[in-house]
Amino acid sequence: MTVLAIETSCDETSVALVRNGNILSNIVSSQVKLHAEYGGVVPELAAREHLRNLLPVARSALQEASVKPAEVEAVAATQGPGLPSALLVGLKAAQAVAFALGKPFIGVNHHEAHLYSPWLAGQPPRADFNAFKPNIALIASGGHTMLVEVQAQLKHRLLGSTLDDAAGECFDKVGKMLGLAYPAGPLIDRLAQSGNPAAFEFPRPMLDDPSDDFSFSGLKTSVRYFLRDHPELLHSEQFVRDLCASVQAAIVDVLVAKTIRAAKRCAVKCITASGGVLCNSTLRNRLAAAAATDGFMLRLAEKTFCTDNAAMVGVLAELKLTHGVQPTDLDAEIAPSMSL
Ligand code: KG4
Ligand code: ZN
Repeated sequence: MTVLAIETSCDETSVALVRNGNILSNIVSSQVKLHAEYGGVVPELAAREHLRNLLPVARSALQEASVKPAEVEAVAATQGPGLPSALLVGLKAAQAVAFALGKPFIGVNHHEAHLYSPWLAGQPPRADFNAFKPNIALIASGGHTMLVEVQAQLKHRLLGSTLDDAAGECFDKVGKMLGLAYPAGPLIDRLAQSGNPAAFEFPRPMLDDPSDDFSFSGLKTSVRYFLRDHPELLHSEQFVRDLCASVQAAIVDVLVAKTIRAAKRCAVKCITASGGVLCNSTLRNRLAAAAATDGFMLRLAEKTFCTDNAAMVGVLAELKLTHGVQPTDLDAEIAPSMSL
């Protein structure tokens, strides 16, 4: 089956062509520079930019895949969760294309799509579900942080999620306090490499809480108070590096410990992880080390598939349609708060 998939839930305009689990193309146009001057994603600007970019991105995706519109057998789009105005662009475009081609349309959950990005591997990428075992999936990005038990393909259970800020949001907000450009996650990652993670002691929120939930707003607040009390330190480059390393250590400690604990409790053999924060080098290394210590197989999404992309949407849509899931109504609405 050849699926054309669209993802516009936040600030990436992406279109992919997926056929029988193979990613024929996956074009991502990031708006990160546009939003950087505002220090975060501005929903109205994101929607306008999606409108501007969607057609050229779709043309490139079809061209790279050598697929003609008439060869598309199903159309998919992210239905939610996400920014309402941004979701609207991709969803309505996908429904219009499906209507024009007379093909089925399927709306997918953005978080559910992230569950499949660790299984997109190889060159060219292919959905590789052979090693699919029950797994615990960590999804951490700018908008979400969650642990999910994936019992089988298309069968999963949300274990916990953030009660306030997402992990990526914490990176970005701490970065803003340090005067770093948005999004600060990649910069903090780089600065932390020459910083001391034990320089400052920040809280590890909910580390000892028995639930699988997360909370990162208290960590952000403690950094704010710390900087208020030590403004002179901001003039030191080494201080900034040490602070980045210390905050990153707190976030990584919580994500790794809670993921491993959930995997042990659910007695799964495999851990998967995706979402923009999984681009973080320390988090990737620490997860790999912890999984090896406890004998878990680890599938980290490749960095290009950690961040938002339409390939994961297309792979999930194809899986659903080939497993008898009914297409979505052509007049279905966006679902900005859709839960997993
Ligand atoms: O998945 P994503 O592209 O978009 C959504 O939020 O859905 O994730 C973006 C988030 C941002 O908060 C960004 O700062 C964070 O992922 N991020 C990182 C790194 N690369 C991206 N955080 C820490 N270290 C990184 N290397
Ligand atoms: Zn995402």
